[in-house]
Amino acid sequence: MSPATIHIAPSILSADFAHLADEIASVEAAGADLLHVDVMDGHFVPNLTIGPPIVESLRKVTALPLDVHLMVTNPDTCIPDFAQAGANYLTVHTETCPHLHRTIQCIKELGVKAGVTLNPSTSLSALEEVVADVDLVLIMSVNPGFGGQAFIPACLDKIRRARQLIDRTGSHALLEVDGGIKVENAGDVLKAGADVLVAGSAIFRSPNYADTIAAFRTVARELQPR
Ligand code: DX5
Ligand code: ZN
Repeated sequence: MSPATIHIAPSILSADFAHLADEIASVEAAGADLLHVDVMDGHFVPNLTIGPPIVESLRKVTALPLDVHLMVTNPDTCIPDFAQAGANYLTVHTETCPHLHRTIQCIKELGVKAGVTLNPSTSLSALEEVVADVDLVLIMSVNPGFGGQAFIPACLDKIRRARQLIDRTGSHALLEVDGGIKVENAGDVLKAGADVLVAGSAIFRSPNYADTIAAFRTVARELQPR
């Protein structure tokens, strides 16, 4: 895939939750490709956010695919509820899944696209054995838990290696990167091989969502094809 065909996934963690439907309508109109939904349990990560009832409500107000990032200790217990609520992608952390192969199969059997992700300190080797089975590989470029953190530059090399792993194994997985992504560093992330950019604060704390999403696409267009 050429970087010109990038996908932009606004993370609603940085949206105004008192006006969530309006915020989602705004990013949809602004050209978002996916809606990134951060689920946090106050245990695996030090924050509490969204559960299946909210995903079910989101499903009713947007046609965008719901890209649900599960930052929870026992994802197996809540995967059926999020599938039922209308998630299109369910992404689990390798750190929370002792039986990762089974968890991925379970997500797929529910008719949902399966994603796997890694904390910045987790080696890429944690997903090597399953990469051919997944629809999405998510590289965390911050320690998960909060929006608005700074991108960890050392993650760029991991993104490059994830790209190589996906290409080498013939996996059809999209390569998504999440955390600290701004228009200013998007070029580096795309050059490293990302297909999907998650952006929370960069979009929802900008004055004009359409201008910001357009700026991401301009960065992608100006890169040489991989
Ligand atoms: C962090 C979340 C991210 C977060 C990104 O734990 O997984 O999706 O919302 O926010 P920004 O883009 O502000 O770093
Ligand atoms: Zn996320």
